Amino acid sequence: MSETSIADRWRSWRFICPSTVRHLGQSIPPTDRKMDVTGILLATIIIILAIAYYVHHHFGKTRKMVYYAAKLDGPRGLPLIGSAFYLLGSNTTVAKNVIYLAKKFKSPWKLWLGTGLYVVVTRPEDVEIVLNQALSKARNYKFTKPILEEGLFTAPVEKWKRHKKVISSTFSMPILNNFVKVFSAHSPKLVERLEEFAGKDKFDVFPFMNKSAVEITCETAMGKNINENSKNFDYGQCLTKAMTLVFTRLFQLWMYPSFIWNLTSHSVILKKLSKDLHDFVAKIVSDKQIEYRLHQDEYCEESVKRKCFLDHLIELSETSEHWPDHELMEEAQTMVAAGSESMGSTLSFVLMMYSLG
Ligand code: HEM
Repeated sequence: MSETSIADRWRSWRFICPSTVRHLGQSIPPTDRKMDVTGILLATIIIILAIAYYVHHHFGKTRKMVYYAAKLDGPRGLPLIGSAFYLLGSNTTVAKNVIYLAKKFKSPWKLWLGTGLYVVVTRPEDVEIVLNQALSKARNYKFTKPILEEGLFTAPVEKWKRHKKVISSTFSMPILNNFVKVFSAHSPKLVERLEEFAGKDKFDVFPFMNKSAVEITCETAMGKNINENSKNFDYGQCLTKAMTLVFTRLFQLWMYPSFIWNLTSHSVILKKLSKDLHDFVAKIVSDKQIEYRLHQDEYCEESVKRKCFLDHLIELSETSEHWPDHELMEEAQTMVAAGSESMGSTLSFVLMMYSLG
C-alpha cells in the first residue's frame, strides 16, 4: 500500500486539526495512520458527547432539575458519568460505598448516575413525604419488567391507582388474621428443613426461608397449596437468579440502553428465567380459574371481605371487562415475586440478627 502524506489526507477531508498540523508534509506508515484516524474519531465523539451533555444539562428540559440539584448536598460528579464510580466493584464494595455516602451526607442528598439524578432519603420524615407525593416509580424499575411486567410494582400511576384500590381490599385485617393459621402450619416444615444443620457450621438460611416464603405467599395471597405444583421447580431460586441479573444491569451503566442490554447473554438468560417464573404462576392462576368456573355459585356467595387476593381478582376478571386476563396475570406474578422475595430476605435477616444477639 503506498504511503500518503498527511497533508493530502487533511486536504481531502477539508478541515485541519491543530494537533496534527505539525505533521503536515510528513509521510506516515499505514498502521500509524489507522491509529491516528481512530484517535481523532474517539476525540470527536467525546467532544460531541461533552457538548451534548453540557447543552442538555444547562439549556434542555432538565435545566430546572440541575438548578435545584445543585442546592442539595451530595458527592461531586464527573461530566457524563456523574458519581457512577461509587457503584463500581463487587457487591460488598458497592454496599460499603453506599453506606459511606449515606453516613457522610444528610438526608435528602443527591447522587448523579450518568445523566440520571437520584435523591436519597434516609430520614423517616423525608421518606413519608416522598411516599405520599412521588407516586411514579423510577425509570430503572423497568429493568424488572421481564419478570413482573406491569403489576403494582412497575405500573404507571394511573394503572397503579386503579389496581391498588382493589388489591388493598384483599389484604384487610380480617383476611390477614386468617393467614396466621397458614403461618403456623408451615412452621414445623421449616424447622424440619433446618434441623439437619443444627449444631453444625454456619450456612446460608436464605434458600430455606425463601422456599417457605414462596409456599406461604401462594397459600395465603393465591389461596393455593403448591406442594404438588412445585416438585420439580424451585420458584425462589429461579427468582433469585433473575433478580441478580436485574441488579447486575442496575450497577452497570453501560447496560442501561435496551439495545445494548438485548445483545448480552444476561438478557437471554433473564428472558428464559422469567418465562419459567411466569409458567409457574400461570399454572396456579389457570387451576384457580377452573375451580372458579366449576364452583361459581359458592364463590359469589363468599363474602368479598374473606376472599384472598387471587380469588377476588379472578372473580373481577370473569365478571368485568375492566380486568382483562393479562392484567390479572401481571398482578399475580408481581404478588408472588414481591411477597416471597421480601418475606424471604426479611426472615433471613431477622434470623441472622438473632444469631448475632
Ligand atoms: C417483611 C416483608 C416485606 C417487606 C419488608 C416488604 C417491603 C416492601 C417495600 C419496601 C415495597 C416498596 C417497593 C418499591 O416500591 O420500591 C414493597 C412493595 C410491594 N410489596 Fe412488599 N414487603 C414485604 C412483604 C410483602 C408481602 C408478603 C407481599 C405480598 C403477599 C408484598 C407485596 C408487595 C407488592 C405487590 C408491592 C408493590 C406495591 C406497590 O408499589 O404499590 N410484600 N414491599
